[in-house]
Amino acid sequence: MDDRCIEIKGGSRLCGKLTVHGAKNAVLPLLAASLLTDEEVTIDNCPYISDVDNMAKLLCELGAHVVREGRRISVSGHVTGVRTGARLYKTMRSSMFMLGALLCVLGEVEMPLPGGCDIGARPLDIHLDGLRRMGARTLCDGEILNCRASGLAGAKIVMRYPSVGATENLLMCASLANGETMLVNCAREPEIVALAEGLRAMGAKISGEGSSVICIEGVKKLHGADLHIGGDRIVAGTVLSATALCGGDVTVYGADVGDMKSIFQSFRSEHCSIEESPLGFRVRSDGQIKARSVITAPYPLFPTDMQPQFLACQCFADGVSRVRETVFENRFAHAKELSKMGANISVHANCATVLGGSLHGADVYATDLRAGAGLCVAAMRADGVSRVFNPHYIERGYEDFAELFSSLGADIKNTVG
Ligand code: UD1
Repeated sequence: MDDRCIEIKGGSRLCGKLTVHGAKNAVLPLLAASLLTDEEVTIDNCPYISDVDNMAKLLCELGAHVVREGRRISVSGHVTGVRTGARLYKTMRSSMFMLGALLCVLGEVEMPLPGGCDIGARPLDIHLDGLRRMGARTLCDGEILNCRASGLAGAKIVMRYPSVGATENLLMCASLANGETMLVNCAREPEIVALAEGLRAMGAKISGEGSSVICIEGVKKLHGADLHIGGDRIVAGTVLSATALCGGDVTVYGADVGDMKSIFQSFRSEHCSIEESPLGFRVRSDGQIKARSVITAPYPLFPTDMQPQFLACQCFADGVSRVRETVFENRFAHAKELSKMGANISVHANCATVLGGSLHGADVYATDLRAGAGLCVAAMRADGVSRVFNPHYIERGYEDFAELFSSLGADIKNTVG
């Protein structure tokens, strides 16, 4: 059993400057895309987080040659394993990217359904529908998914929902398919743009990324490339939320402020100023939170990956707020944990109603990556000491969360419960 926890004594103001690490959701699909050529693809600014470690291990198990030198990961060689990597597939949702990547290079993939955080059903129907339209045959017995294709063909694919992962899988496949593909109603997240840019550097012909229609002209072969990952907008948003809540003055570098508009809009108030610059942003807060409601939705609207951190802040607001979750159906497990700290939250269907007040320290349990981040944010402001258990969830997406915030003055440390 993992009895490690993050121990936090609330009440410190946060001050200082930091650069956020590379974006988890950009590096994971690019690592998968690196399998689309035998030539070397190097990706710079890869964060030290467990999802990236597991993805690198999965690529190795599949036969690729993977070398990590600091923040630079190089992938080369030919993958061979159609049926390898079962355990790793289950540890992370991002193994879904193997579906597109392996189907392209091997013509077949057989994998257990991907794991990851338990935040909803997360089916793969949009991925599979798109792959079938490109000529793949898919078979799923409830646990094992098998896809085969003797050559993928370009197609017009209208997605029923702008799924991030499905857009990424289909982008990879379309890059090497025979003919043209048009993806309609696709996701517009900055990570889609990062993948399209990466694939283009490898020789793919893609246009329209960042809009809801992407056109891809298939090419016969992709080649090696040198890629760089931008800073993680959700890590930057987490620092912003903690500073807004604890009060202080923090400058964050590395993330593209253009990608964070909806996050800034939800935290800006007469108590919290956010100054943007080409290099990052500076947040100054007196620690008072305005009651404010948000609805999570696909980019460019408010990201579901910031919902727990936002909800944590609203527990201290000057009134009643509502948070509606429209992306994942089961993403309020942290509300129960926040209640252990004294939060007044009621959840009905996909909507949480919060009456702001003050919280006290408690032992709480992360139930997924961002839920864990939200609990830590709340604990940094709560009276007394909290212990956040299940830190392995937080390690999936943050490089040493405790170190990050202690460098800003928070009283926070990794310990054993
Ligand atoms: C990605 C991100 C995750 C983020 C999410 C939404 C990665 C590695 N993860 O996850 O951090 O929270 O986008 O911004 O980039 N859906 C279906 N059928 C499908 C695919 C998705 O019904 O075939 C549903 C899901 O169950 C979910 C919603 O669509 O309710 C959004 O999922 P999707 O955009 O696919 O998220 P992920 O790519 O899994």
